[in-house]
Amino acid sequence: EIFKNSIEASVVVAQEIAHLIKSKQEKNKPCVLGLATGSSPIKVYEELVRMHKEDGLSFKNVISFNLDEYYPMTKENNQSYHYFMHQHLFNHIDIKPENINIPDGTVAIENLNQYCTDYEIKIINAGGIDFQLLGIGRTGHVGFNEPGSHINSGTRIITLDHITRVDASSDFNGIDNVPKRAITMGVSTILKSKRIVLMAWGQNKAEIIKRTIQGEISSEIPATFLQNHSNATFVLDQSAASEL
Ligand code: GLP
Repeated sequence: EIFKNSIEASVVVAQEIAHLIKSKQEKNKPCVLGLATGSSPIKVYEELVRMHKEDGLSFKNVISFNLDEYYPMTKENNQSYHYFMHQHLFNHIDIKPENINIPDGTVAIENLNQYCTDYEIKIINAGGIDFQLLGIGRTGHVGFNEPGSHINSGTRIITLDHITRVDASSDFNGIDNVPKRAITMGVSTILKSKRIVLMAWGQNKAEIIKRTIQGEISSEIPATFLQNHSNATFVLDQSAASEL
């Protein structure tokens, strides 16, 4: 779906999420959201906060699972995805703190495998992800599933691609400060979601969007695995769609 600009598109995505939350509330069921960081979802979060404040949208039945976190990374660090999510969304809505799940960048290395397995089990026990929000990196990563990520991959620790670290370097005041690794949900974790919306804005995403949507499905561009998902939509602005 191509929109005139990212604001219009983000409002439509936020409306879909709000509708899902409310329909689950009516059935007295939890709504399990998979959430993303980066600049792409910021306007969606802004709109959800607005709906909470002005329209009374409640998040009390929401259970959230974030895609990824840098490793190592403390929660208090303002570069952390933990910080980002609280700043842009969680601090402004009525989600129960115990329902927020973000990969923990402080887990000791020897406990990471077990931690990642437990993250997967927590998602399953919550009933699986109803709605997964995604951005896309210029390498074709979703979450931090960099080129080479297998379709069957689960939550794990990965090494960040050089391009990804270059793109993050302005946030970290230079590439040397960008962590080399991250914890990410896997490709298979993402593909199990009942609904997926990937958002991309701007000309610098146009090439990877073309390769993701029209290219061959392969681990070289992990986002291409979304082509086979039965309920995935790419939400684009005109610039991101300009090479299609
Ligand atoms: C990071 C995140 C991804 C995100 C990507 C794109 O690498 N781990 O989940 O999709 O950045 O970021 P942006 O939306 O800022 O372009």
